[in-house]
Amino acid sequence: MDTFVIGGGNRLYGTTRVQGAKNSVLPILAASILNGGISEISNCPDLTDVTCTLRILRHLGCEAYRDGDVIYVDSSGMNKNSISDRLMREMRSSIIFMGAILARTGSAIISYPGGCNLGARPIDLHLWALRELGATIDEVGGYIVCKADKLVGKDIYLSIPSVGATENIMLAATAAQGTTRIHNAAREPEIADLQAYLRAAGTNVTGAGTSTIQIEGGSRLRDVKHRIIPDRIVTITYMAATAAAGGEVTIEGVEPQHISAVTSVMREAGCVIREERDRIHIRSDRRLRAVKPIRTMPYPGFPTDAQSPLMAVMCTAEGTSVFVENIFENRYRCASELMRMGADIRIEGRVAVVCGVPKLYGTKVAATELRGGAALVIAALGAEGESEVSGIEHIERGYEKLDVVLKGLGANIERKTVSVPEE
Ligand code: UD1
Repeated sequence: MDTFVIGGGNRLYGTTRVQGAKNSVLPILAASILNGGISEISNCPDLTDVTCTLRILRHLGCEAYRDGDVIYVDSSGMNKNSISDRLMREMRSSIIFMGAILARTGSAIISYPGGCNLGARPIDLHLWALRELGATIDEVGGYIVCKADKLVGKDIYLSIPSVGATENIMLAATAAQGTTRIHNAAREPEIADLQAYLRAAGTNVTGAGTSTIQIEGGSRLRDVKHRIIPDRIVTITYMAATAAAGGEVTIEGVEPQHISAVTSVMREAGCVIREERDRIHIRSDRRLRAVKPIRTMPYPGFPTDAQSPLMAVMCTAEGTSVFVENIFENRYRCASELMRMGADIRIEGRVAVVCGVPKLYGTKVAATELRGGAALVIAALGAEGESEVSGIEHIERGYEKLDVVLKGLGANIERKTVSVPEE
C-alpha cells in the first residue's frame, strides 16, 4: 500500500485543470446500458471507482474500454442482470445499476453496495421508489432481487432529496409506461449531467436542477456522445490546498457557479478569489480567519463532501469555526488524525468546533475515507515538517493523480511505495 510523503511549507503557484466529475461519470456509465448501443463519454477521470464500474459493465456483457479520457461502452451485447457481491462491495455507486438493469431487462439481482464508511448509508428510498414504479423487491440470501413485468410512471415524493435515489428513479423511469415525476428531487449538478446524457440518448426528461424532475418513459434510445461536467469537489480541494499552503493558483475547466457556497466561505476566511467563465483564480497570502458556522446541506447548500477539506483549512485560521454535518453521521473521521497534527477540534455528535492554532505539525496519519483523506493531504501541505499519509487508496477513489497535480503546483509531495513483507 503506497503512501504520500509531504514536506509542508511550500506555497502553491501555477495553473492546473480539473478532472471530470466522479459523481457524474459513475451514474452515466450505469445509464449507458439503457440504449443497447454505443455511448462515447469524454472527460472521464481515471479513478479506481471508474475502473470498477467498467468491470461491472463488462461483467454484464457490455464492451467497455477507455482511450485517454474517453470511455466507449457498447451495451448491445448485455446478457446478464446480476452483479456479484464482490463487485458491488467495491463502491457505493454500484447501487445505481439497480434502476438501470431493471429498466433494460425487467429484473435485477444485486447485493448491498460498499463505498466510504460514513455511518449508516441506507438504500431504503431507492427500494421504496422502485416499488412505487411497480417493481417487486425481495431479499434472497443477501441479494436484492428486483423484478417488474411492467414499470408504470407516477408521482414520487422523496422524503430526503437523495442524490442516488433520484438517479435510480430517473434511470428506471426511462422504461416506465407514462410519466414519472420526482418531487423533492436532488438538485446537484451531477443530476443535471445525467439528464443531459439521457436527453442526448433520446429520453424526454426535464427539470433536473430544480426540485421536480419529469421523465417520459418508453422512448427508443439511440447512440450517444456526452462530455462529463467538471468535478466541483476536486476544484474545491485544490482551492482548499492553496488556502492552507498559501500561494496563488488558477484552476481551469471549472464551473464556478457549482461551488458558490464554498467560494463565499473561502472569501470570508480571507482568500482572494476571482471567477471567470470556466476558471477560478485563488490567492491566499496571510493567516486566514475563522468563518461563520458551516452547515452542510443538499445542493445548492454547502456540500458535505467539502466539509473535511474546509475543516483542514480552518484548523490554522485565527478564531473558532463551527461545522454542523447534516448529511452523513460519521463524517468527522479525519478529525482525530488532524488532531495528531496539532489541531484543536472538539466533536459533539453532528457538531465540530475547530479552534484555530497557529501551526500544524507533520506526522504519520492515516486516511480512512475519500474526502477525509484529501483533508489530511491539505493539512500536511500547510504543516511544519514532514507528514506521511497512508490509506491513499481511499483518496484515489476520487482524485486523479493528486500528487502529480500538487507537485506541478510546487508542493513537496512524493508517492512512496511501501512493499508488503513476504510471508
Ligand atoms: C452522493 C454522492 C456523495 C455525496 C452525497 C451527498 C455519488 C456517487 N455520491 O451520495 O459524494 O456526499 O451524494 O451529496 O454521487 N439516505 C437515506 N435513504 C436512502 C438514500 C439516502 O436515508 O435510500 C440518506 C443518506 O443516509 C444521507 C442522505 O440521505 O443521510 C443523502 O444521501 P444521498 O444524497 O443519497 O447520497 P449518495 O447518493 O449516497
